[in-house]
Amino acid sequence: MVETRKVGITDTSLRDAHQSLLATRMRLVEMLPIVEVMDQVGYHSLEVWGGATFDTCMRFLDEDPWDRLRQLRKGFKNTKLQMLLRGQNIVGYRHYPDDVLVEFIKRAVINGIDIFRIFDALNDLRNMEQAIRTVKEEGAHAQGTICYTISPLHDNDYFVSFGEDLKSIGADSICIKDMAGLISPYDAYELVDRLKKEVDLPIQLHCHYTSGMASMSYLKAAEAGVDVIDTASAPLAMGTSQPATDSMVAAFQRTPYDTGLDLKLLAQVSEHFKEVSCGYEIPRNVMGVDTNVLSYQIPGGMISNLSSQLAEQKSSHLLNDVLAEVPRVRSDLGYPPLVTPSSQIVGAQSVVNVLTGERYKMISTEVKNYLRGLYGKPPGEVNPELLKKVLKEDKPITGRPADLLEPQLEQAREDIADYLEQEEDVLSYIIFPNVAVDFFKRRKGELPPLQLNSSCNNGKAVNAVAEINEQPNLVQDLHLDALFNVDETLIWIDECNKVYPAG
Ligand code: CO
Repeated sequence: MVETRKVGITDTSLRDAHQSLLATRMRLVEMLPIVEVMDQVGYHSLEVWGGATFDTCMRFLDEDPWDRLRQLRKGFKNTKLQMLLRGQNIVGYRHYPDDVLVEFIKRAVINGIDIFRIFDALNDLRNMEQAIRTVKEEGAHAQGTICYTISPLHDNDYFVSFGEDLKSIGADSICIKDMAGLISPYDAYELVDRLKKEVDLPIQLHCHYTSGMASMSYLKAAEAGVDVIDTASAPLAMGTSQPATDSMVAAFQRTPYDTGLDLKLLAQVSEHFKEVSCGYEIPRNVMGVDTNVLSYQIPGGMISNLSSQLAEQKSSHLLNDVLAEVPRVRSDLGYPPLVTPSSQIVGAQSVVNVLTGERYKMISTEVKNYLRGLYGKPPGEVNPELLKKVLKEDKPITGRPADLLEPQLEQAREDIADYLEQEEDVLSYIIFPNVAVDFFKRRKGELPPLQLNSSCNNGKAVNAVAEINEQPNLVQDLHLDALFNVDETLIWIDECNKVYPAG
């Protein structure tokens, strides 16, 4: 008799899937009509908040992210809600002080989050500890995340030992986060098998379909005992998004891994998202299999970003040189996983190294700060010559970067008093000061509402592409300085390295 061990499904349609395919533009009004059906499905959880959704709500959709969460919570009476938290970066792009992080988590729990998936781009435990501790104190589930990457020092031994570290600081479960879609089916099998045996916590696998291997990796992971997999409703699946919920559920039916979910209900869910996605033009380069991921192990979005940077410098012919330089810079920096913000830091420095014809003739502020230890501890040893060149006699900080930050809450509350309508506004303001103030002004009628070129009122979605094209082109200016700005508007698509606008 084969042991039956149900595989759980976390559906990402309301967060990662539309962040990956629709530039995070799905609006609450496009979600609410399907909430009641989704709530009957019996998912392990739904990922609905965090990542880039917080920023885009205010920046592009004139929505209060906190209100979105409350309304989803009200609708989902039976289903656990999950968010993606960037550790000490919360939902932003830099480190925030502990008072802000703690308050954010408290408010997220009050407003409806059950499960926090917590990650750090460098897999630096110290950037995750405070978040994990607070989530547990608030009685929610703290999922510790392993950012999966490939490098000479990242192998399954490394990931298993990091999984043990996460357990030691209190993680309730472990997520393997394969943001670039790099994990192969047999590596997935081995890693899940070892984590289950050696770390002994529930294991969840989160893959992007980018390389075309993700559903095979899920199948092998299920055989190895994975507890939960992340999928998206079929119309919002594959490409740079997750494998399709519907297909995975069907594939596991009548096997020991049967998810128990009802395909008819899932079909209703898919029907809804099909209508929603018809209102968007999904760029071709986010669908299909990205062969660059397979050949260079460089995330697809990062390569399109490099190409556009080179095109702006009228140097497209240098792309191969830059692609060869990326692994060298990454090695010099101690092999950071290529996720935001490290992918932008490594990418921009590689372009500059090639364009100037001399490596590290110019060094970006971000690389300098990285070498100073301000992003956390690099996974491996950094190039000692480069370190000396940047820091001279100084040494990198050895402590936790957030220990250098002063508390911010009280002052911010005073600064924003005129616009405060709820306690949560202080957090929106601290994390995205300019975006939040503009949003508050529109809310108060001091600025006109955003023109959402949408016919959403009569049931059709906004056209994401039209809005993307309106964004400023940040590498327009043909000087190298422009390449050195890791601007938040370039990186708001976060961990999948989806960089809109690509051109
Ligand atoms: Co993801």
